[in-house]
Amino acid sequence: MATRVVILILGVICGISSSVIPFDDSDVGLNTVEIIENHGYVCENHYITTEDGYILTYQRIPHGKNDDGSGKKPAILLMHGLASSSADYVNMGPNRSISYILADIGYDVWIGNSRGNAWSRNHTTLDVVTDNEQFYDFSWHQIGYYDLPAAVDYILSVNGGDGLQYVGHSQGCTSFLVFASTRPEYNDKIKLASLMGPASIMEYHPNEILQVISNYIYDIEKLLKKYKIFELPLIEKLREIALSVCTNPENWDLCGVLFDFVGHDEAQFDTSLLPVLFTNLPSNFGFKQVLHYGQQIKNGGFSQYDFGREKNMEIYGAEKPPAYDLTKITAPVAVYYGKNDGLVNYMDVKTVISMLSNVANDYLIPHEAFNHIDFITATDVVDLLYVEMIQVMQKY
Ligand SMILES: *[C@@H]1O[C@H](CO)[C@@H](O)[C@H](O)[C@H]1NC(C)=O
Ligand SMILES: *[C@@H]1O[C@H](CO)[C@@H](O)[C@H](O)[C@H]1NC(C)=O
Repeated sequence: MATRVVILILGVICGISSSVIPFDDSDVGLNTVEIIENHGYVCENHYITTEDGYILTYQRIPHGKNDDGSGKKPAILLMHGLASSSADYVNMGPNRSISYILADIGYDVWIGNSRGNAWSRNHTTLDVVTDNEQFYDFSWHQIGYYDLPAAVDYILSVNGGDGLQYVGHSQGCTSFLVFASTRPEYNDKIKLASLMGPASIMEYHPNEILQVISNYIYDIEKLLKKYKIFELPLIEKLREIALSVCTNPENWDLCGVLFDFVGHDEAQFDTSLLPVLFTNLPSNFGFKQVLHYGQQIKNGGFSQYDFGREKNMEIYGAEKPPAYDLTKITAPVAVYYGKNDGLVNYMDVKTVISMLSNVANDYLIPHEAFNHIDFITATDVVDLLYVEMIQVMQKY
């Protein structure tokens, strides 16, 4: 494994730059499994049932391309962000998306799908359509508290190891921080968590529009409840429209509106990636996930869901929701963040890092314009980020 990493790093240093690899538009229209198989890798679906009944579909790349799969491999779990899916970690194809790189250097790669997204709309007793309100009655708190412990137990039972590595992007970091602080007994099973653009404390949220909207977050919650809207309606249709609009290069300016939210870094965004991206984006999510973020922006801090004074008393025994105690996190955590991230302010990331007791890496990405999606879409993401991340991973 070590030699392959050296080759990967040498390749980057010697200028076999990832940016010369053109995007493979044969991935357009394919789901995560089909994309992985399209590039000649093995992909397995695994169904993981949480303590509260959600049935999640995770993808696994059990070994690299030039590997027969024999031999023990360290497990690694990758978790995507809000309104997204496992496709985030395979969209750029081999040698660029991190799932393939990790499989090729010898990891047993697991790519998660959080509850309620397009892959994880099943439950032991609830029906996602007829029980829509109850099904989507969760925020990222439940993803951290229920999904991740179930996933870690399941993966270790299949892999046979005594611990795994974790990689999160955005909400994948939020849910990790919830998981490791509210289920401290799991910290021993996390060899290293690598967090990319960790959304959590939002004292200095960079987006002014979202800041203004967050002032009305409790009214928005009431309104959504009144009209019984628990997930984004017609999201499959929206995905179809986004794909057909963004497949046409004439519309790429329009599709670039995405940058208004994630931060502008056109230099690192190859617009030919748009059709692949919008094949699986946005993925399904519950509005409570968004509302919970809205509460963080409005209230500061990093706390459990605010149900209002009365229900908070009932659930938490206090008028205000309890803050997540990040000092309970003992697993090593490496943190990667960008100066131009439109959704996560690096100053807030600094606060989070100061609260962690076991920081494996504190890495501001050396590219001023690095934004919130560059972690999974930047043309030179291998050189800018993954080489550093993987070097640290290899030590754990
Ligand atoms: C990835 O890199 C390997 C080794 O340099 C090369 O053999 C392979 O063709 C590359 N794959 C793609 C899809 O570029
Ligand atoms: C949901 O899970 C149940 C139980 O595992 C399974 O029988 C059923 O086929 C699943 N439904 C879908 C739509 O995946």
